[in-house]
Parts: sequence; C-alpha cells; structure tokens
Amino acid sequence: MKTVAIVPAAGSGKRLKQTKEKPFIRLRSKPLLSYALDALNNSPHIDKIVLVVARKFVKKSRDLVKKYNLKKIEFIVPGGRTRSDSVLNGLNLVDKDTDYVLIHDGARPFLEKHLIEESIIAARRFGASCVSVPVKPTIKRVKKGYIKNTLKRNILWEAQTPQVFKREVILKAYRNRRLVKTATDDSSLVEMLGYKVRIVTGSYRNIKVTTKEDLILAKALLKR
Ligand code: CTP
Ligand code: MG
Repeated sequence: MKTVAIVPAAGSGKRLKQTKEKPFIRLRSKPLLSYALDALNNSPHIDKIVLVVARKFVKKSRDLVKKYNLKKIEFIVPGGRTRSDSVLNGLNLVDKDTDYVLIHDGARPFLEKHLIEESIIAARRFGASCVSVPVKPTIKRVKKGYIKNTLKRNILWEAQTPQVFKREVILKAYRNRRLVKTATDDSSLVEMLGYKVRIVTGSYRNIKVTTKEDLILAKALLKR
C-alpha cells in the first residue's frame, strides 16, 4: 500500500501580515513549515512527500529539506494562484503506483501522528476521509448584515487536514476544474462528485496558522 503526502505551502500569508515569509517564520527556532513536514517524514504510513511552495521559495525550501533531513520529500514544486491550483500541481507528480494521497496544509504545524494513521486507515476502509473537529461556537447564516438563521451546532464540524483519498478519487475530483475554483478544501471536491467522506475526529491543537493571533496561540501550544 503506497501513500503519498502532498503539502500545499504556496500561499502568500496575506492575513498573517508579517514581514517574514509565512513558511519560514520561526516557532521555537524552527521554521513553521518544518513541523508538518517532520511529522509526515517520521510517519511509517507515509512513503513519499510532494511539497508545493511559491516559486520564489523553491530553493529556500530545498535548503530546509536538507537541513532538517526530510528524506521522504520526492519533489518540491511551485504552487498556483489558489490552494486548489497548488494541490493540483502536486497531484500531477504523484506516481501511478500510489494507492492513497494524503493532503495536509503546510500552515498546520501540530500534526499529531495518530491523526496521520487514523485518517489513512479510514480512507482505506471508506475511500476518503477528512480530519475534522466539532465546532465550538454558534454559527449564523448572514445576508446583508442580518441573520438569516442559526445553524444546529450539533451537526457542524470544522474541516482540518489531513484529508486522505484513494488516488483515482482525488484525481477525478481535481479533473473537474469547473468545481475546483470555489473549493477551499479537497474533501468538498470529492463530496461534489457524490463520494462518501468519512469523518475522523481531529484535535483542537491542529490549528491553521492564518492570523497573528494564531501565531501567538501556536507559540503558546509549543510550551506545553
Ligand atoms: N496554499 C497554497 N497555495 C495557494 C494558497 C494557499 O499552497 N495559492 C496553502 C497555504 O500555504 C496554506 C493553506 O494552503 O498551507 C491555506 O492556509 P491559509 O491560512 O489560507 O494560508 P495562506 O493562503 O498562505 O494565507 P492567506 O489566505 O492569508 O494569504
Ligand atoms: Mg489562503
């Protein structure tokens, strides 16, 4: 059983508003991007890693891979305009003999090893899996400044990554370029094709570093 990880890390970090490029921001003296890569590299369930970064950081990423001895990284490829463009660039390099593709955001440094394992096991059983957590707040649908309605919290889950798919399933989803444009995660493309995606309960530690508050939280989480 061959599983390849794709790590999209080619975003511009616009909402973080830092001068230092997001993937290379230091958390406890290590670059943010190195955390997720390290977790995947150390997992016995991952065979190869395809890293997707902004074109201008390909060389810098090569140095990072060398420095942190990330032996499973097979390719470092330039990303695209949107996250899904970036994932597609990675997918195009996944070998035909690959059975499962795991996709994990480079901006999620606290990837726990049990989530890698559980999401892969679920994808093997069900064809597709999505690590998610129950939402904590009450969520409203809003139109033009007014609440339309309040959603039932007990059926709402927040999607995280990893998300894992049978190779043919995720390829088919990404071939559907018309749908790709609006998607903010990979599972949604697979859902749109009518496949069932199995939920794997994630962790509230598995945050995506998007705003400066997330960065503060990430630093605090590292202390415990
Ligand atoms: N991503 C990517 N290619 C893009 C856009 C996003 O690979 N064109 C990746 C990011 O690097 C990140 C994840 O997808 O790992 C999305 O998380 P987000 O917090 O949105 O990161 P950015 O897109 O970098 O941030 P922003 O949206 O604030 O610019
Ligand atoms: Mg983004």
